[in-house]
Amino acid sequence: MGIKLTEKQKKGWGILSSRDKTRILFDGGSRSGKTVLIAEFLVMRALLYPGSRQLAARRHRVHVKASLWNGTFKSYLASFIRTGLYKFSESNLEIKFSNGSRIIMDGLDDAERTEKILGNEYITVYLNEATQLSWEAVQMAMTRLSQTVYDAKGHKALPKLILDCNPRGPRHWLHIAGVRNIEPESGESLRDAAKWARLNWSALDNLENLPAEYIDTLKSLPDIMRDRMLNGIWRSNEGAVYNEFDENIHVVEPFEIPGSWQKIRSIDFGYTNPFVCLWGAVDHDGRLYVYREYYKARERTLVHAESIKNLSGNERIYRTCADHDASERAELEEQGLSTVAAKKDIVSGVQELKKRLVPGSNGKPSIFFFSTLKNTLGEIYEYIWDDSASKAMKEVPLKKNDHAMDALRYMVMELKDTAKKSFYGDSAGRVSRYS
Ligand SMILES: Nc1ncnc2c1ncn2[C@@H]1O[C@H](COP(=O)(O)OP(=O)(O)OP(=O)(O)O)[C@@H](O)[C@H]1O
Ligand SMILES: [Mg+2]
Repeated sequence: MGIKLTEKQKKGWGILSSRDKTRILFDGGSRSGKTVLIAEFLVMRALLYPGSRQLAARRHRVHVKASLWNGTFKSYLASFIRTGLYKFSESNLEIKFSNGSRIIMDGLDDAERTEKILGNEYITVYLNEATQLSWEAVQMAMTRLSQTVYDAKGHKALPKLILDCNPRGPRHWLHIAGVRNIEPESGESLRDAAKWARLNWSALDNLENLPAEYIDTLKSLPDIMRDRMLNGIWRSNEGAVYNEFDENIHVVEPFEIPGSWQKIRSIDFGYTNPFVCLWGAVDHDGRLYVYREYYKARERTLVHAESIKNLSGNERIYRTCADHDASERAELEEQGLSTVAAKKDIVSGVQELKKRLVPGSNGKPSIFFFSTLKNTLGEIYEYIWDDSASKAMKEVPLKKNDHAMDALRYMVMELKDTAKKSFYGDSAGRVSRYS
């Protein structure tokens, strides 16, 4: 039974099945082979201990369904486990085995469901992408590891807590608890530190099962992201201008923008440096979704104008703001792209964007980015303060890696001045339609 393990996975299996280690963290790079191994371990335990329950959870139920259920477990079982030994119960995301065991999958994003899940006892609790959860949630889940079941030889199942994640900053509670074995609240050593084990993974550990292009993509990521997603290193974006930025909060999977949301574009000119255009849409609560980017160096303005029009299709764009260069704006105008001059004050622009990044009392920020905006997301990490500026002066960002950042500032300043009321309410603003 099972997949042909990589060397790293063999090591991981040793830890998972060790009698001493019952709190296990697999932290590391993207697609390094962590989740598949854990899935195999959960299935093995379900088969080994009749009547046992294993929980596989992450923060959001929709993500459980898309990644764990459809992505990992279904294909693993279909490939490696004899049909007839298990049944999928699609509606409640459960796998029922013929020996009475279950693997129960769920999200912890709904209080009622969480209460129901945590009302049960398990021998295995697996928390996928655990950085998205709280330490409190993990501690709560640990208390549910109390089911008593035996294998055919009468050995009692050892309860196991298993966490996996991609690294974040080193001050994240999971780094503190899972890597340094320190209690995140008190700062003292974890009482059960001896039971914890951690294995750090890199995407390079799974070379044999990944397309070469995938590794190339990871290698071309900006510094911090490359360290986290390829090498599996915990690195923070402290020193970054937008240190409030957090992939978990601000990055969303692309979705179709409702026609009733107002759309805005923002342009930063460049020739040697990239020319950037960003598209944003504002929902009815005033939240901005930056949903498309155009990022290209060494090209004539005419070509940029054509590309922007093509990308916009027949979307109604409320307003396009642009850097001040008069001749370039005139050229865009000639191509049917009228623009307003951007509000360029850098300090207010940075403040305005920082304000949007900070979550409000409802836990939601007022800016989001589609996960497809590679250049913009890369710049957010690499946009840092200029340390050479004297302390007496105002803090200013270093003028480097700032092309999409400039366009983004113009966009949020434009929205600030176009108060929500007028943005939706009056039709004074120029509306241009391209089809
Ligand atoms: N031993 C193996 N044999 C064949 N394919 C494998 C093996 N291990 C992993 N894979 C494949 O490699 C890919 C990544 O594996 P997996 O999802 O387990 O990575 P991960 O470390 O959990 O990644 P992420 O951090 O992105 O969640 C999957 O497509 C998986 O099927
Ligand atoms: Mg995974």
